[in-house]
Amino acid sequence: MLFTLLIGLLALAFVVVYKYLMQNRGVVESFGIPMVKPFLIFGSPPYLYNQILVHKYYQDMAKKLGKTWGRYDGRSPCIVSTDSDFIKEVLVKHFDSFTDAFNFPTDPKETTLDSAMGEEWRALRKMLSPVFTSGKLKGMLDPMDHIADEAIDYITEQVKTNPEIDLKPILQGFTLDTISKCAFGLSTKAHRGENSDFAKAAYDVFSGFRADNLGMLLFFHTFSHFPFVMKYMNLWPESAHQIRQMTHDIIEERAKKNITTGDFIDKLRDELEKLEAPITRDMLDAQGIIFLTAGFETTANTLGHLMYNLSRNPDKQEIAFDEIMSVVEDSVINHETIKDLHYLEATIMESMRLCPPVTEHDRFCTKDCVVNGIKIPKGTRIQLPIYACHYDEDYFPQPEKFEPERFLKENADKIVPYTWRPFGGGNRVCIGQRFALTEIKVFLAKLMRKYRIVATPKTKVDYHKGDLFLLFFSEMVVKLEAR
Ligand code: HEM
Repeated sequence: MLFTLLIGLLALAFVVVYKYLMQNRGVVESFGIPMVKPFLIFGSPPYLYNQILVHKYYQDMAKKLGKTWGRYDGRSPCIVSTDSDFIKEVLVKHFDSFTDAFNFPTDPKETTLDSAMGEEWRALRKMLSPVFTSGKLKGMLDPMDHIADEAIDYITEQVKTNPEIDLKPILQGFTLDTISKCAFGLSTKAHRGENSDFAKAAYDVFSGFRADNLGMLLFFHTFSHFPFVMKYMNLWPESAHQIRQMTHDIIEERAKKNITTGDFIDKLRDELEKLEAPITRDMLDAQGIIFLTAGFETTANTLGHLMYNLSRNPDKQEIAFDEIMSVVEDSVINHETIKDLHYLEATIMESMRLCPPVTEHDRFCTKDCVVNGIKIPKGTRIQLPIYACHYDEDYFPQPEKFEPERFLKENADKIVPYTWRPFGGGNRVCIGQRFALTEIKVFLAKLMRKYRIVATPKTKVDYHKGDLFLLFFSEMVVKLEAR
C-alpha cells in the first residue's frame, strides 16, 4: 500500500516537474529586448529538446517576440536575432568583438576550425583557406564527375528492380566518397555500402549531436549552461577521434612515400614543416574531423532535400532540366558548363532556403560592444537562427513556396543581405561552400539528365525531435523515371 502510494507520489511529482519545464515561463525586459525568463540556474526553457523540433521553436519565438529577443543559458544572457542589420553587424562590422563560435577552449586534439577561438581560429583559417581556391576546385571537378557517375550507375542498377528508391544512403555515400577523394586522396565506395567501418565512423560523428535521449539532453544542457565543465569532457564522440587518427596516419604515410597530390592532406603535411604556435601537431590532425564530417553530411542532406523539393515541384524541375540539356551537351560537367547552370543554381539556393541543413549558427561576444543600439557585454552568446530567417516573410514573401526565381540574377536586389545564410556568413562563413555547391551541381545535373524525380506517397521529410542544429531525416524515397 505504502509502496503504491510512493510510486503514485513520484509519478505525480514527475508530471508536475514535466509540465513546469515544458510551459513557457514568460518574458522579462532586459537589454531593451524581451528575454525568456530563466529557471534558477538552469537557464530558459525549452529544456526537453527531445520533445520539440528545435528549428520550429526559433521560428515560433521570432513570430511571438519579434526579430530580436533573448534567453538565458544558465545565468548567461543569450541574444537571438533574425534582424538583417543586427546579423550584419555581428558577422561583419563588429567581427572583432565576435570572433568566436564557441565559448570554451577545447583540447588541441579536438580544436577543429569551427570550434577554434581567437588567435587559434585566425591561424587555422589562414592556413586552411587555400585548400579550396578556384584553381584547386577546378582540379577537383574531374574526380567529382567520376564519383557522381559511379553513384548514378549504382542508382541505375538499383532502379532496374524498383524505380521507387530510398536515396538517402546513396547520397550520403556519394558525398562521403567525394570528400574522401578530394581532400584525403582515399578511394572509397561508400555509395555501394563498401568501406563500412570508415563510413560508420564518419556517420556516427553527427548522429552523436542529437538530444533525443536523457544522456544527450544532460550533455547539451551542461554544454550550454555550464560551459566550464566542458574542459573536463570530450566535445567530439569517439568516432571523431578515429578520424583524427586516420588523418594523422595518412599524413605520415604520404611523408614516408613522398606522395604529393595537392589536396587537403598535402596542405596539412606542408604545414607540419613550418609548425608554430598557436598551432600544434594535434590540432593539425584534428582538422581531418571537421573536413571529413562537415564535408559530407550537410551536402548529402542538401541533395536529399533537393530530391524532395524537385519531386514536389515538377514544373520547376522541367525548367532546370531544359537548362541542363541546353548547356551540358554530353554528360561531362566541366568548368565552363557548370558556370552556365543559372536556374539549377537558383534551384539549389531555394532548396537550401526552405531546408537549410544547419538551422542556426552562433557567435560569442569577446569584448563589450554596441550592436544596433543594444549594449552587449563580453561573454554574451549570439544565436543567429538560419531556418527562422529563411521563413521570415519580410525577407522572403510567401516563404513556404518553392520559388527558385527569387535567386535569379534579375531578382538579386530583392534579397536582403545576410538573410539567406545556409553557409553562415562573414569571416567565419563555411570554408567548404564553393566545394559543396560545385559537388551538388555536378551530381544533380547528371542525375536529372537521366531521370525525372517523381514524388510518391512515401516522399516525405520526417524531421527528428531533438536535433539541435541539423535537419536530419530518416529516408528520402522518390521514384526515378528514365528520361
Ligand atoms: C551544403 C553543405 C554545407 C553546409 C550547408 C554548410 C554549412 C555551414 C555553416 C552554417 C557553417 C557556420 C558558418 C558561420 O558560423 O558563419 C559552416 C562552417 C564550416 N564548414 Fe560548412 N557547410 C557545408 C559544407 C562544408 C564542406 C564541404 C566543408 C569542408 C570540406 C565544410 C567545412 C566547414 C568548416 C571547417 C566550417 C567552420 C568555418 C570557421 O569557423 O572558420 N562545410 N558550414
